[in-house]
Amino acid sequence: MNGSFLVVLGRDAPLSLAELVILNRANRTPWTLHAHWKNACLLLGALDPFELQERVGGTVKIAHVLGSLSTLDQAALDQLFLPIFSNLEPRFYYGFSFFGNVSSKEQKFFQAYFKTAFKENHVKAMYKAPKTHGEPNQNSIHPSEIFSRGLLDTGFDFCIAKKNNTIYVGRTITASNAKAISKRDKERVLQNKVSAISIRLARILVNLTGLSPTQTLLDPFCGVGTILQEARLVGLNAVGVDQDPDAIKAARQNLKYLKNGPGQTELVNADATHLSRHPLSFDGVATEPTLGPYLTRLPSVNTARQTLAELEEIFDGLFRALSHKMKKGQPVVIILPEFPTIEGKLLRFSEKLFEKHGFVSTNPLSFPEYARVFPYLYTSDTNKIHRLIYLLEKRKGIP
Ligand SMILES: C[S@@+](CC[C@H](N)C(=O)[O-])C[C@H]1O[C@@H](n2cnc3c(N)ncnc32)[C@H](O)[C@@H]1O
Repeated sequence: MNGSFLVVLGRDAPLSLAELVILNRANRTPWTLHAHWKNACLLLGALDPFELQERVGGTVKIAHVLGSLSTLDQAALDQLFLPIFSNLEPRFYYGFSFFGNVSSKEQKFFQAYFKTAFKENHVKAMYKAPKTHGEPNQNSIHPSEIFSRGLLDTGFDFCIAKKNNTIYVGRTITASNAKAISKRDKERVLQNKVSAISIRLARILVNLTGLSPTQTLLDPFCGVGTILQEARLVGLNAVGVDQDPDAIKAARQNLKYLKNGPGQTELVNADATHLSRHPLSFDGVATEPTLGPYLTRLPSVNTARQTLAELEEIFDGLFRALSHKMKKGQPVVIILPEFPTIEGKLLRFSEKLFEKHGFVSTNPLSFPEYARVFPYLYTSDTNKIHRLIYLLEKRKGIP
């Protein structure tokens, strides 16, 4: 499909935008990023929106842009929407998702325009206001409502975004299907609800490596194999390491169950800090390592410092081992912890942790407003530990 697409980003928008930027760069996609807002971006070119929605972990929904307007008036909207009005169901739901600086006057103009148009077409069109889902400033219809109200089939979710003086008007054509993702999760033979990473985040980490099919991804703390599974689903070879033999057994069963075409999986029961003793070869790393003990409440500064000191030994060993195995330019995507404390402080590792082993951080979002959002924060309402997502690259030699 050729054209313009409004892509609505997930809760952790910089992470989702970085995922798209890396996919574009690594695969030399025939689409490019044309504009971005806080929660959305505009892609231009040849793009299969259904394939893209399936491929990424961080995109919420994709709208096909019907046109762009420099002035908002009835005639301009008629030109865009008359083809849609000729084919309306007698009864349906509709709603709007607004991005960027669409003013409340402009929002009301759209709402009034459709209310009148649907009335004139003698259909029962029921307006669906976006729910906030606990997130402030949320002005977008959530995929759960898109599916439950049939907005992709009989109804409409109009996505409207404004940049400078141009208003882009789109209609949502695909959205992230939470039911299908949860099925993929629950169907696995062995699960570990406490320590396993979400499928969505695992897919984002795999995509952030920028590896392409036939290349090999290593997860040195693979647990039950969620990241390896997502790597295999996008056509990569996968190597998993874990020091817990039960985790390796579980990962083996889960990946066997997957039966995903060509490509290979190798699983090794070993300590990640001793990787250099194993004859493993790989092109990049994506991992969620152990982040310390499970916390039910915020730690004190002293406890957080102690946990960081204990973890430092493991991560120091990991980066040392990786620096011996990896070549210049190869990627490491890793989650490192940040501890909010009861005293109100935030404690995390210094970047020396990886820099002393020849790794540097690389933020793919070069736009000025994203200069300070790196590492990306992956938030969770229930987790007492912040997950910081670092994108690193092996620099030649050890500084
Ligand atoms: C947070 S879990 C990873 C979960 C994994 N992403 C999944 O979805 O199942 C961390 C894993 O690291 C493993 N681990 C801890 N220390 C390790 C070490 N030094 N070497 C290898 N594995 C280690 C643990 O056994 C655990 O399975």
